[in-house]
Amino acid sequence: MSKRVLVTAALPYANGPLHLGHIAGAYLPSDLYCRYKRLAGDEVLFICGSDEHGVPITIAADKEGVSPQEIVDRYHGINKKAFEDFGISFDYYGRTSSATHREISQKFFRTLHEKGVFIKKTEQQYYDVKAGMFLADRYMKGTCPKCGYEEAYGDQCEKCGTALSPTELINPKSMLSGEQPEMRETEHWYIPLGNYENWLKEWIGSKTDWKPNVLGQCNSWLDAGLGDRAVTRDLKWGVPVPLEGAEGKVLYVWFDAPIGYISASVEWAAQIGDPEGWKLFWQDDETELVHFIGKDNIVFHCIIFPVMLKTHGKYVVPKNVPANEYLNLEGGKLSTSRGWAVWLHEYLEAFEPDLLRYALAATMPETKDADFQWKDFQNRVNNDLADVFGNFVFRTFSFIGRFFDGKMPPLLNPSEQDLAMLEEIKQSGARIAKAYESFKFKEAALHTINLARAGNKYFTETEPWHTRKSNIEACGNTLHVSAQIVAALSVYFEPILPAACKKLKSALNITFNGMLLWEEVKPDMISVGQEITPMEILFKKIEDDAIQSQVALLEAKAAAKAGTTVKEVSYETEKKGIAFGDFEKLDLRAAEILAAEKVPKSKKLLKIKINLGYEQRTIVSGIAEYFQPEDIIGKRVAVVANLIPRKIMGIESKGMILMAHDATDGLRFVETKAGPGSCIN
Ligand code: 2FM
Ligand code: ZN
Repeated sequence: MSKRVLVTAALPYANGPLHLGHIAGAYLPSDLYCRYKRLAGDEVLFICGSDEHGVPITIAADKEGVSPQEIVDRYHGINKKAFEDFGISFDYYGRTSSATHREISQKFFRTLHEKGVFIKKTEQQYYDVKAGMFLADRYMKGTCPKCGYEEAYGDQCEKCGTALSPTELINPKSMLSGEQPEMRETEHWYIPLGNYENWLKEWIGSKTDWKPNVLGQCNSWLDAGLGDRAVTRDLKWGVPVPLEGAEGKVLYVWFDAPIGYISASVEWAAQIGDPEGWKLFWQDDETELVHFIGKDNIVFHCIIFPVMLKTHGKYVVPKNVPANEYLNLEGGKLSTSRGWAVWLHEYLEAFEPDLLRYALAATMPETKDADFQWKDFQNRVNNDLADVFGNFVFRTFSFIGRFFDGKMPPLLNPSEQDLAMLEEIKQSGARIAKAYESFKFKEAALHTINLARAGNKYFTETEPWHTRKSNIEACGNTLHVSAQIVAALSVYFEPILPAACKKLKSALNITFNGMLLWEEVKPDMISVGQEITPMEILFKKIEDDAIQSQVALLEAKAAAKAGTTVKEVSYETEKKGIAFGDFEKLDLRAAEILAAEKVPKSKKLLKIKINLGYEQRTIVSGIAEYFQPEDIIGKRVAVVANLIPRKIMGIESKGMILMAHDATDGLRFVETKAGPGSCIN
């Protein structure tokens, strides 16, 4: 049965251009999901827009000496266009400075006020005497009381995600004058989140399908206890608080921004001529609301906004919030201020959108931080897209063109291999769909390229260049099966490679008026005799110098900002605490590497023989891309000795070699001088 899905992607602040971290965090995954869901026949509304309020905007305006409006107008335009050029298929891209948004967010606030959700409190807050204003949110920086990060903002630590208030910062400093701020009294409205703890615990507790990284953050906030959260600010820029006696105050940006999803939906409905149409998506229990965000937005989308929606009473709450971790760049943390970023609009000047869509989909920071490397981008394009997918398509099309008059040959007396490949179309379709449905986009990309890989291998193994002379029927079968696989791939790859798939469909003459749905992919999608239009090479290989110039550009941008190319090291967030008993279960030992060899047919795996003193055994380790087998022999390393053995590519692996993921230097062994078999604890 088809579903109704409302998908939101975090509204980016309109204070700067988008970089690859933004894209990998929220926008590509949400677009993949929406494109897949549309292919699955579901009713989808995909909403995003510019977040145009809050201190990030006024700070950018202050820095340039222009008005906040000028800043948001500029970046709203740039970002909207970059999204379009990159093929992000929003149904509507709104902005929170719109009149509709002001009206809807004020109405939302008033409803909560009338329902008695808020409490009003008078508190001491930091005030910059020189600047003549209260120092809300990002006007303050200091040390995070939770993780010790020294650059935490007054409203949030971007390192560990904790929501903060300026008074919680250790060593707070004003971002405005640099002067020591004084404390002054001011009055604000707060949501006492503690009142909703029980509901949140029950609701989040029922979300067994949420990603562990998201549940982990939610539970750690719930375990720590939720306090009162101010929803208004003493600022000039923002949505005015719609109450008497609140002059000079605006809604906190994190109160109005998520309501931006609603106001953008209202504007979308008006635009399509169905002004009430948004209600079906927001106010009908059948809707599945899914928020795509980066990990620093989890608290707002899993705790605060759901409380707002729930207490308002008329809205659905999210079904899932598949937040991603961070994307690093060439081993360093992405940073606008240090120029360590690849801007989306700059990327688009050099390469096609599809290439980055694939490279990011294949390496997405889904469960842990990931690293974007230009070299890896080149390898994915050249090895996967050009050599596998593109080559398979090219061979299939050119053989049909040359030997079958450009027409689909029949399937006559197919071999078991031919039939198995046709069956694989269905199996792959189900596997890929399952991965998309469960927000596992990396897996979806892998299953999809694997179908192309299988097709390419089948083509090579059945040798149509020989059979065309020796057995034309078998040759026709190879091309028939290959063309059906290409047709299936033109749908299965569509979420990731929309432009390439459009070209493919038109060459295969399967561009119907409507959309070709996932379930319509069949092993006989192309009928015998159907014309197949010759087509140009789908993906050109990227030359080394194109990659070198991107790396040089990156280094130059960073150097221009800092005078040096020093990267800030990015540390992974520390995992949740464990009991000593849990640690004790691990049997860590020193071991000596006796032998190592590559695992055939694997790029990543090494088969390593180790000496544990009391026995020798084999461990399969995914380090082949980092070390040559001969270079690691003799090393004394730390291993987890009591990991339950498992088979990896047919080899039994007994234990695990510990590796340090050095953010600036790749993988490192954890070396020890201790004799083989020594316990480590
Ligand atoms: O972190 C950010 O970039 C915010 N502008 C995201 C806002 S998401 C939503 F709530 F609007
Ligand atoms: Zn922190």
